[in-house]
Amino acid sequence: MSSVNWNARLSDIALNVKPSPIRALMKYTKTPGVISFAGGNPDPAVFPVAEFSEASAILAREGKDVLQYGATDGYAPLKDYIAKWMAPRMGRETKPEEMLITTGSQEGMDLLCSVLLNDGDTIIVEGPTYPGAIHAMRNRGARFLSVPCDKDGLCVDMLPAVIEQGRKDGHRIKFIYTIVNFQNPSGSTLSEGRRAKLLDIAEKYDLIIFEDDPYGHLRYTGNSVPTIFSMDKKESGRVVYACSFSKILAPGTRVAWIVGDPELMQKMIMIKQGTNLCSSVVAQALVYEYCRLGHLEGFLPKIIAHYSKKRDAMEAGFKKYLPSNTIYNTPEGGFFFWLQVPGIDSNALFMKAIEHGVAFVTGPSFFVDGSGLDFMRTCFTFAQPEELEEGAKRLGAAIKAL
Ligand SMILES: Cc1ncc(COP(=O)(O)O)c(C=O)c1O
Repeated sequence: MSSVNWNARLSDIALNVKPSPIRALMKYTKTPGVISFAGGNPDPAVFPVAEFSEASAILAREGKDVLQYGATDGYAPLKDYIAKWMAPRMGRETKPEEMLITTGSQEGMDLLCSVLLNDGDTIIVEGPTYPGAIHAMRNRGARFLSVPCDKDGLCVDMLPAVIEQGRKDGHRIKFIYTIVNFQNPSGSTLSEGRRAKLLDIAEKYDLIIFEDDPYGHLRYTGNSVPTIFSMDKKESGRVVYACSFSKILAPGTRVAWIVGDPELMQKMIMIKQGTNLCSSVVAQALVYEYCRLGHLEGFLPKIIAHYSKKRDAMEAGFKKYLPSNTIYNTPEGGFFFWLQVPGIDSNALFMKAIEHGVAFVTGPSFFVDGSGLDFMRTCFTFAQPEELEEGAKRLGAAIKAL
């Protein structure tokens, strides 16, 4: 038994930190027989294991470099590959000094917060939003203002009033955080018109936009929408863009990237030097070699077809088994359905659903004020095809039994 009184020693941040709500639910999802619609995991059945093994030849060829410490801003060949590959989405080939490779987008978020936030500064987030972002931001002392999302994404028309009132109330607003494509959890995509408005608003109120886009490559239906980064024709430096290999390749690589104004990136690089010196060069080199061999280009259409079928199977299950007052939109891509069963208590439903052998994530996990009780997020990418209908059936039965 430790004899240290940790409560008397810990920082305020450590005293106030709470476990991630999703990770707290995970122990239930591991119960044998439970179908998990909970975590936002890709399908391991389609991980390109053989192609990664092939790519590991880079260790034999370039091991002397790859096993060494690397540059803090990332493995140069990978940065170059990403800049070229992403050019159509970014509107141009971004320069090396605009990009930083991070250990997951999660690290990019943390670094961005560390260079922009003083304790008590405010971030405008979507309601609902990604709990991991709330967590990273809280760790850096953030306060929040939340703006609703509808089927076209963040309700940007509400922003001016929120910003003006927030400033009157003493909020030092630093940036607006938006998950632009197939948002986690709502599945919605910010429309092009709203993206343009958001840029204007950011300029008018002198704010930064953090465009988080880990799902953007996974579109199953509908037309793609330009990134906010590419719409910033003046190259104002106001937009910081993040993407990751986690959802489109393999989260175990922990390889992601963030793009923004070189001055900002330079500061993030300096902070990163104090955090981990550099992201794993082994992981970056593996991802690079996998991409260089042309595998990513083949893999994306494969998972798009695979996940699109899974989305349809989950929706078919919902149509068949969920109560007729359940509200949801069909996501055009990404990983999630966002369901509302008006008046239901999703925390109580969660335990009932576990009894019935299915797991999801409860609505309040996605709101900074803990609202959203009658919402739930279901992930359709992880469960196996035959589990999607069965899981929907179990969810429907749990709702009835509540
Ligand atoms: C919207 C969003 N941003 C960022 C992340 C973090 O991704 P990474 O695995 O790259 O850290 C996630 C993961 O679920 C996410 O949903």
